[in-house]
Amino acid sequence: MADPRRALAGALRQHVEGLKALGVTALPRSAPTAPAPASRASQASKTARLAQLAEEVRKCHRCPLYRTRTHPVISDGSPNAKLMFIGEAPGRDEDLQGVPFVGAAGQLLTKMIQAMGFRREDVYICNVLKDRPPGNRTPEPEEMEACLPFLEEQLAIVQPRVICTLGAVATKALLGPHISITKVRGETRDYHGITLVPTFHPAYLLRNPPAKKFAWADLKLVKKLLESGAGGGRQGAREGS
Ligand code: URA
Repeated sequence: MADPRRALAGALRQHVEGLKALGVTALPRSAPTAPAPASRASQASKTARLAQLAEEVRKCHRCPLYRTRTHPVISDGSPNAKLMFIGEAPGRDEDLQGVPFVGAAGQLLTKMIQAMGFRREDVYICNVLKDRPPGNRTPEPEEMEACLPFLEEQLAIVQPRVICTLGAVATKALLGPHISITKVRGETRDYHGITLVPTFHPAYLLRNPPAKKFAWADLKLVKKLLESGAGGGRQGAREGS
């Protein structure tokens, strides 16, 4: 039988490694999270609606990317999440596995989530594009326009309290093409009643480690917004957590 103390020590070690990866030396104080019963019915209906959406993505021919993809990449995490991370588009690893943010940038994102005190399975992770652009090129405006209804549907189903856009593409997709990520990162914006905080993309952070401190500041703001009940509700990253 697994030793619970070893499991706890392992989880703590993982958390500390996540903090180190972000260059974090001090932690924000947070109040203990109060458990709340999540509605099983609403969770089941969210899961069913997301499964339907995944089927529509699989059949989608709205742009040519379906011809070159291996797998569509729809989401990872909890349909009940209060925090949604939105990236740009699947890369090579994501295309092969059909799961968002599993490559090098994804590993950093996982550490960032853990540094916030959450687990990857507590948040909802997705991208603007569901299919990989060949060679990881930047998505074309027509591809983003074709794919955006899927992201809008994901937002309508999951109904997160806070959205964290990762990088310029996701931020522009939701806030408009003239938005500059360097100008708006770390600020709060409204996206149809949901609080949105743009931050740098983890791939950018891997290329520019000094920018990690800004991303960490943005994530602390996200955590504070969740704790203060942004959009209503309780603390934690997931309903009932
Ligand atoms: N970069 C993204 O924007 N999304 C992924 O899923 C992986 C890398």
